Parts: sequence; structure tokens; C-alpha cells
Amino acid sequence: MASARKPLAVQRTARNSRASRCIAVTGGKGGVGKSNFAVNLSLELGQLGNQVALLDADFGLANADLLCGVTPKYHLGHVVEGLKTLEEVTVPLSPEVELIPGGSGIEELANFSLSNRPQILEQMREMEEDLDYMVIDTAAGISDAVSGVLAAASEVVIVVTPEPTAIIDAYATIKVMLRRRPGADISVVVNNAVGVGDAENVFQSISTATREFLDHAVGFLGVIPADPNVTEAVRSQVPVTQHTPETPASRAIRLIAKDLHRKARNEATTETLNSFWERFGGN
Ligand SMILES: Nc1ncnc2c1ncn2[C@@H]1O[C@H](COP(=O)(O)OP(=O)(O)OP(=O)(O)O)[C@@H](O)[C@H]1O
Ligand SMILES: [Mg+2]
Repeated sequence: MASARKPLAVQRTARNSRASRCIAVTGGKGGVGKSNFAVNLSLELGQLGNQVALLDADFGLANADLLCGVTPKYHLGHVVEGLKTLEEVTVPLSPEVELIPGGSGIEELANFSLSNRPQILEQMREMEEDLDYMVIDTAAGISDAVSGVLAAASEVVIVVTPEPTAIIDAYATIKVMLRRRPGADISVVVNNAVGVGDAENVFQSISTATREFLDHAVGFLGVIPADPNVTEAVRSQVPVTQHTPETPASRAIRLIAKDLHRKARNEATTETLNSFWERFGGN
């Protein structure tokens, strides 16, 4: 382990030697709730005692910081320029969770891809050693930068809403991802759902098409109801799970975090995960 940093690392008492799980949050379509889910999932995984880093990989248009009401002085762009180390740009969101800001309004970052940045990948690898989870919020679309991240993640969460455009984009994302990594662990979260039936229909249409045309089974991770408190939380720049912890959307995200946490604990005894950043570098 190379770093002397990390308030988080210092707090850690017993560290196992396996690599952290990397959850990439994506969806294809813009505005479906990826960033809100990624931020709140990270915080809830932290609440469960995990050390988490949230990487805002919507480079150039990053906004996870805004959703959390923090104003990072530095971002990944400074790391790219060699002005700062990764550790120096991270900002704490809670005692267990830290954010790696992606930088906003930076044109040079718009086409940025981590895959040809060995120095940054090395820093990511070092950081990963201190983490239970790295959650990656991706940009909308299926650019090379996005699909590279998805292909290396240990699990990919597709956020979709009950709109035909979102469903088609989710399917397209799954298709592209499977081409790069057949057998990827993909699960679906239906956001903005009005009722469970609504969410079931959305999941069924994605699941059926994926099974029939791509010969792949996707998992169902959960439903987040349409909830006006999410919009309120965004306006207040406080993540909804902190803004209104007992509102339906917060409870739903907490449930999903618990499921992921339980699944990770069950699998930990049988599975050895390879470093996300090693897989990523080799892509
Ligand atoms: N469950 C929900 N209930 C109500 N509104 C929601 C919900 N989830 C998201 N929203 C609304 O959708 C908006 C967009 O959410 P978010 O920024 O997380 O989407 P995104 O997929 O990350 O967008 P982009 O593709 O631009 O990165 C939020 O500002 C919020 O107002
Ligand atoms: Mg976003």
C-alpha cells in the first residue's frame, strides 16, 4: 500500500486483502437519475460501514459535487495536468465516503478517457486498496470512455425510467457493454416509477429483450419511486437520503444498498475480485 493519506485509511481497523467492488452506474439516456442514485447509494453503503469512493466520471460535466453541496477546489483535471495527486483532489462527503470530482465546464475533459493515463490508473489502484466500494457515476451515452469503464466494473447498474426512450437507451447500453465484456454482471434499477407494476413492466421489457436478442440475463436491483423530495433535495444541494431519510425514494435506495452489501458479504468468502483499475488498464 503506497499512500500515507487518507483519513479513511487511518480510520480503517481491519482490512482484508481483496480488491474493492466497483459499481458503475450508467443508463444510456440523460437525466434518468444516475447521479442522484450514485451519490445516495455511496452514502448509504458508507452508512453500512463501508469505505467508499465516488468517482464522478462525467468528465467535463460533472455534478455530483453540486448534488452534495460541496465545492471542490480541485478536480480530476488537475490530476491530469499533474498539478495535484488523486488524494489531493478528493473531498469527504461523510466519514466513510469521499468524492473524486470530475470537473465541470472544462472543455479539455469532455473527451477525456482514463484508459491511456497510466499514472492516474496507478493512483486509482492505490486508492482502491483502502476501499470496500468504488462507485462510478458515468456520463449519459455510450462513448468509448463510458463503455471502457463499464467493461471493467465488477458490476454495472443500469438506471432506467418508465419512458420508451430510456428503455431503448438502456437496452442499447447493455448491448454495447456485452460486446465488450460478455458475461458482465448487469442489474437494473427502475427510477421514477409510479407503482410497482410500472417498474415490473419496465424491467420485464429490458429483461426479455436482453435474454432473447443478447442471450444474457440481467438482474433486478430495485425500484425508486417518483418522489418530489428528490427534486427538493437537488434544489437544496443535500442528497435525498440525508435531506429526507424516510421519504420513499430514500428508503428505496437504502434497501438497494443493503442488498448490495449483503450480496458482497455473501460472495466475499467464495470470490476473489481482481482490481478494477488493473482490468481497466488492460482494456
Ligand atoms: N426518483 C425521483 N423522483 C423524482 N425526481 C427525480 C428522481 N430521480 C431523479 N429525479 C430528477 O431528475 C433529475 C436528474 O437526475 P440526475 O442528475 O441524477 O440524472 P442523470 O441521469 O445523472 O443526468 P445526466 O445524464 O445529465 O448526468 C434530478 O435533478 C431530479 O430532479
Ligand atoms: Mg449525471
